[in-house]
Amino acid sequence: MQDIAAILAKGLDAIAAVSDLKSIEAIRVEYLGKSGHITQLLKTLGSLSPEERPKFGQIINDAKETFTLQLQSRKEALEAASLSQALLAEQIDVTLPGRGMERGKCHPVNKTLARIQEWFLRLGFSIEEGPEIEEDFYNFAALNIPPHHPARAMHDTFYFPDGRLLRTHTSPVQIRAMHGKEPPFRMIACGAVYRYDFDVTHTPMFHQVEGLWVDENIHFGHLKGILENFLQALFERDLTIRFRPSYFPFTEPSAEVDIQCVACAGKGCRICSQTGWLEVLGCGMVHPNVLENCKIDSERYTGFAFGMGVERLTLLRYAINDLRLFFENDLRFLEQF
Ligand code: FA5
Ligand code: MG
Repeated sequence: MQDIAAILAKGLDAIAAVSDLKSIEAIRVEYLGKSGHITQLLKTLGSLSPEERPKFGQIINDAKETFTLQLQSRKEALEAASLSQALLAEQIDVTLPGRGMERGKCHPVNKTLARIQEWFLRLGFSIEEGPEIEEDFYNFAALNIPPHHPARAMHDTFYFPDGRLLRTHTSPVQIRAMHGKEPPFRMIACGAVYRYDFDVTHTPMFHQVEGLWVDENIHFGHLKGILENFLQALFERDLTIRFRPSYFPFTEPSAEVDIQCVACAGKGCRICSQTGWLEVLGCGMVHPNVLENCKIDSERYTGFAFGMGVERLTLLRYAINDLRLFFENDLRFLEQF
């Protein structure tokens, strides 16, 4: 009986002293496990006389129950403590203001590009693509641009050591699209082009949209009608536009289209170099040599082509005073669109 009392007292002391859940399990095993102290006591019952057995059995069972209850309540207390500690550590102050997330927006140049594409798609134009790293043949030779032409000069074009170049316009896509195809076709091609240029209306990388329509009986009136309609639709207002005679080796006749400067309403300012006008595109009737370079019968087919500057159009539409702003990624500028 003394043994029983001593074991129970020791066990209860151990429970009282424990401070973590792992140790409490160790104590449970030490006393109630297969070879635990209390379990061992129960095993001694077999060696007692039948008269003694119930008495000692009762005492040991009482001790076991006392121990188990103490163990259980200590375990619950420790569990509750560890839970509240965890909750405290993960506490969130729901009254703090949210951190918020900046919302991205479409770049104004992409916005204009999307509107241009939409307009021409509605007219049944397809969208063609070509590489930005281009071969001389597509960028120049096939477009009837002779070897001595100034546009080929090092101070206008970015060349690679192997003779390839960064395309200087989207016109090479005309050649790629026409090669091996039989008219009629009408297409546009959009993308980045590169030139050695840098001032308020020129950047070294900018975007063009090329247009091409080849069929029987296509004439300059078609070109003029489409471009006038397109520009009114893009700007959503009546514009003062002019077609000015010009020269491109790959079109004949050729023209450039100017829009009256929106910054000065045609009076003349820094943006329009005091002319009152801003050039937005070049165009013309596809030169017979270009058609023949693409194995298209120039006696039977005619076509028109144009190439417009997307940044220029965007600048005019939103009355921006420096083309370079589009590429500086200043959020104060970009957030206004
Ligand atoms: C051409 O690039 C011709 N390929 C256009 C063409 C296509 C003519 C089909 C006939 C037939 P040009 O070099 O003028 O032409 O450029 C066309 C437009 O690109 C210009 O009107 C202007 O709006 C824009 N542009 C030219 N250089 C720059 C530049 N550095 N930065 C921004 N826009 C530019
Ligand atoms: Mg030009």
